[in-house]
Amino acid sequence: MDHFALKDGVLHAENVALPRIAQEVGTPVYVYSRGALVAQARAFRDALSELDDPLIAFAVKANPNLAVLNVLQREGYGADVVSGGEMRRALTAGIAPDKIVFSGVGKTRAELELGLDERIGQFNIESREEGHELAALAAARGIRVDACLRVNPDVDAKTHEKISTGKAENKFGVPLLRAREVFAELAALDGMNLRGVAIHIGSQLSDLEPLETAFAKIDTLVADLRASGFAITHVDLGGGLGVSYRKDEVVPTPAEYGRMVARMTKGWDVRLTFEPGRLIAGNAGVLLTRVVRVKRGGNGPPFVIVDAAMNDLARPALYGAWHDFDAVEPSGERMTANIVGPICETGDTFATDRDCDALESGDLAVFRTAGAYGASMASSYNSRGFVAEVLVDGDRYAVVADRIDAAAIMDAERVPEWLA
Ligand code: LLP
Repeated sequence: MDHFALKDGVLHAENVALPRIAQEVGTPVYVYSRGALVAQARAFRDALSELDDPLIAFAVKANPNLAVLNVLQREGYGADVVSGGEMRRALTAGIAPDKIVFSGVGKTRAELELGLDERIGQFNIESREEGHELAALAAARGIRVDACLRVNPDVDAKTHEKISTGKAENKFGVPLLRAREVFAELAALDGMNLRGVAIHIGSQLSDLEPLETAFAKIDTLVADLRASGFAITHVDLGGGLGVSYRKDEVVPTPAEYGRMVARMTKGWDVRLTFEPGRLIAGNAGVLLTRVVRVKRGGNGPPFVIVDAAMNDLARPALYGAWHDFDAVEPSGERMTANIVGPICETGDTFATDRDCDALESGDLAVFRTAGAYGASMASSYNSRGFVAEVLVDGDRYAVVADRIDAAAIMDAERVPEWLA
C-alpha cells in the first residue's frame, strides 16, 4: 500500500490531505506515516523469520524523532545509537536498555560511561584503543561489558563514497587481518565480555553481493576465533539495505535479503543483530514544501524556488541524491525545471532539468523518500531554523517536533560583556 497517494486529485498522507497540514503547521514540514513505518518494520522482521530471535536495532541516525522511535519500539525494535544524544533519545522513547547497541568510531569517555551506567545491551568496539578504555571503565564499576568487535572487511559496497564504510581505507572497525589479534587482546581484559563481531559496510546498497562477500568473510573469522577457543555468541550484521528513490529504481527486497542472510549464516549458532535505518524510515516520510516563486527568463529551464532548502534536506547537496518531486495537487501538465531552495549557494539545488508536475507560485509539492536522513541531517544554515515534523495515523495527525525558528536559536547565543 502507498501511504502517500492521490485521493480526488490531492496528495494525502494516509487519510490526511497534505494541504491541511501545510495550512495548519506551515511549510516546509516533514510528514511521516505511522502506517508506512509499521509496514516496513514488519516486512523486515518477517523477512528474518527463519532466524532464531534476531535483535533488530533501528539505526536512530536515520530518524531520531521520539514519536518515530516510539512507533518502532512498539514493533519490538531496539536501537543502534552512535552518540550519547541518540542513546538518551532511545531510552526516552521507551526502548529497553538491553535492546540498545552502541556503534561509532569516536565514542567519548563520557559516552562510554553513559552506556555502562544505563546498562545498554552491547557496545560495538571500533578500535583496540576504545576496547581498552571501555574495559577499564567497566572493571572500575565491577562489571563485565557485553561487546562485539567491529571488523572492517575491506569490501566495496558499491555505493556513494561518502556512505561507504567497509573499505580498508575507511575509518571504521579493525582491519580483518588484525581482527584475531585484537580480539584476543581485548577478550583477555578484566571488565570485558567480548562475545562476537560486528560489521556495517555502507548505506543505500542496491546489490546484495557486497553484503554476501562481507558475510562470507565473517563466516571465516567466526570459525577462526572459535578454533582459537573464543566463545562467539553474537554477530551484528549492520544495516545498509537501499530503498528506491526513483519509481524505476530496483533494490533488493527485505525477503531477498532475509533469504541471503539465512543461507550465509546457516550453522553460525549465534544471536544476530541488524541495524536497518533507511529501509524502515526512508519511504515513510516526505518533505512538504511550498513554491515561493517560479523564476523564468534565464538561459536554461525555469527555477522552481521552493521554501525548503539544503539545510532542511541535505542529501541532494551532499551526495547528489535524487528525491522524486511531485505536486500535491497535480494539474496533469508537466514542466522541465531546476528545483532550488532559497539558500545563497548554488549547491542548494534539489534537481536540475527535472521533468516534473507543472508548478506555480504558492503551489505545494513534496520531496519523497525523505523519512530517513532528512530531518536528522538538518542544520540552521542561513538562520533558517529547524523544520517541524508531523506524524500521521489514519485520519489524524500530530506535530511531533515543533518548528524551531531562528529567534529560538538566537536565544542560545550571547555577546560577551567584554565586547560591549
Ligand atoms: N549501522 C551503522 C553502524 C551505520 O553507520 C549506519 C549508517 C547504519 C547502521 C544504518 O544504515 P542504513 O540501514 O540506514 O543504510 N546520511 C547518509 C547515510 C549515512 C549512513 C551512515 N551510517 C544518506 O543520507 O544517505
